[in-house]
Formats: sequence, structure tokens, C-alpha cells
Amino acid sequence: RHHVLSLADFTPEEYDTVLQTAASFREVLSRRTKKVPTLQGQVVANLFFEPSTRTRSSFELAAKRLSADTLNFAASTSSLTKGETILDTAKTYLAMGTDMMVIRHREAGVPQAIASEMDRLGVRVGVLNAGDGQHEHPSQALLDLFTICTLIDSDRPRLELLKDKKIAIVGDILHSRVARSNIWSLTASGAEVHLAAPPTLLPQLFADFTTNAPGKLFLHWKVEPALQNADFVMTLRLQKERMTQHLLPSLREYHQRFGITRDRLRICQPNVKVLHPGPVNRGVEISSDLMDDPQFSLIQTQVTSGVAVRMALLYLMGNSKA
Ligand code: CP
Repeated sequence: RHHVLSLADFTPEEYDTVLQTAASFREVLSRRTKKVPTLQGQVVANLFFEPSTRTRSSFELAAKRLSADTLNFAASTSSLTKGETILDTAKTYLAMGTDMMVIRHREAGVPQAIASEMDRLGVRVGVLNAGDGQHEHPSQALLDLFTICTLIDSDRPRLELLKDKKIAIVGDILHSRVARSNIWSLTASGAEVHLAAPPTLLPQLFADFTTNAPGKLFLHWKVEPALQNADFVMTLRLQKERMTQHLLPSLREYHQRFGITRDRLRICQPNVKVLHPGPVNRGVEISSDLMDDPQFSLIQTQVTSGVAVRMALLYLMGNSKA
């Protein structure tokens, strides 16, 4: 595929291709010269209409490690402020010879709309969704998958390694594009996936929707059943910027009832590991000491994995025949 917009239709073979390719690039990144000429002459444009630290910087670094030229766009300093539309912005980058566009937007569907426009124009520009509203964040879920799989088998990360694992996803599921992408990838692996959140952040509406997800998916309005014997715990940020009403429960109540602490992890598997896509609200969804504890926390490893996984995505899109 030359666009990566969602993991909903990713096949097991595609997951394994991304994991294996990322493993090769992780090896490249461990060398003294961390660069390969794979995308020399190609242009990757990072079009971020919403703030980002990790995703934007690691896509930029990934493109540079592949020897591509990069263009970085920030909405607040662009001609969007003068009324230019998003599609006209994308077409402006197209006219400069952009080969791939990495797009983040606060509204779901914007990367899809730009991809459709590129297809309609008959140009071969790959569009990668770097997070659209509450919809999906495919590269984050793929780097989460890579982080977990390489912990189990560093040399040969592959989807089947998660077959017998229990993975808890705890936090603001309702607003989380990371959770939605992870639901597709983790259930495709055959892992048992347990979602846990207060009912306001995991409403019945969402419960009805997720009955359509493939694989073993369970929903809980208490954290303990999700944590019991879990191998991995993914914590999610409470996305106050997407909440239109007063937060219920309050941040303090949330931490008391759902916050991940060392104490709460006692009912998980002894080697349990904790992930968080970032940015983190320390002391809300995860205790500050746990976040910094290398015995449990994979948070920095996730960031490191992100560069290799994003190199893999850009490489595979740049070389795609479909
Ligand atoms: N995880 C993630 O998407 O972080 P950023 O918003 O900093 O890119």
C-alpha cells in the first residue's frame, strides 16, 4: 500500500513486514553511521496541524536517516492563518515535488481526505496518518507492537509472539486514537486485550462498537480485572483538550481509582511492563516513580523504537508497487 491511514485492514503479513523491516533499521541505527541512501532524492513533508513532540520529530529523523529531504510545516506559522485550505496546502507541497506526506490533524478523516485528493489527481504521493482526531494513530500502535515483540524476541519480532499474552489498556479510551489503532493490531495478534476506564471514558456506545472488533477484546469499568495477570499494561493520557464537559471523575479521583502505580501492578504477571504513548500527565494516569522505573517502564524504549518503525513505514511506502 502507498498510504498508511488505518490499521483496520492491515493483514498479519503486513504487520510482520513492518516488524522485520523495523528490526533491520534498528540495526542500522546502532551503527556509527546511522544513515542509508534508500530515499535519496525523495521529499517527505511533515504536515502537522496539531501539536506533537514525539511523532513529528521521529518522522523527521526517520526520513533523514533514509537520506530523504524533509519539509516541516507548523499550522500556526503557515498560510492557513490567512485562510488557505488544508487541501490547497497539501497541493502546494505537492507542487514542490513532495513524495510522501505525514499528516496530523485534530479532526478525524483529514489524512484520508488528502490521500483521496492525491489519488484523484493521479499523483503517486503516499499519505501517512500521524494521528487524526479520535480516529487512529497507526505508527504509534506499530511502534508499541514493535516494542512489545522485540522484548519477547529481539531478533525476530513477529505478530504471533503475542498470541498467549494479556494486554491491558487503561485510561481515556473514548478520546484515544492510540487505543483504536492498538485495538486493531493487538486483537489481530491473538492477544487478550482488556480495556479499562470509568464509564464516562468507556461509554456503552463504545462497548457496542467494539463488539465488531476481531479477536479477544474485553471491557471493564474497574481496573483490577484488566490488570489481573496482565503481561503488559498500556496507560493512556486523559485528553482534557478533547473533553467538552467537566471531567468526571476528577483527575484526583481518576488517579485513586485507575492510576497505574507499583502497588496496583502486584496483581499482574511478575515481569509486567508498562507502556505509555506520551505525553504523560505524571501522577494522573501513571505514578511519577513508576514512569521512571526501568524495571517496569518501556516508555523511553517506545520513543527509541519509533524512529526504526517510522523508517520502516517510509521505506515500505516509498518502495510500494500497489
Ligand atoms: N504519542 C504521540 O503521538 O506523541 P506526540 O503527540 O508528542 O507526537
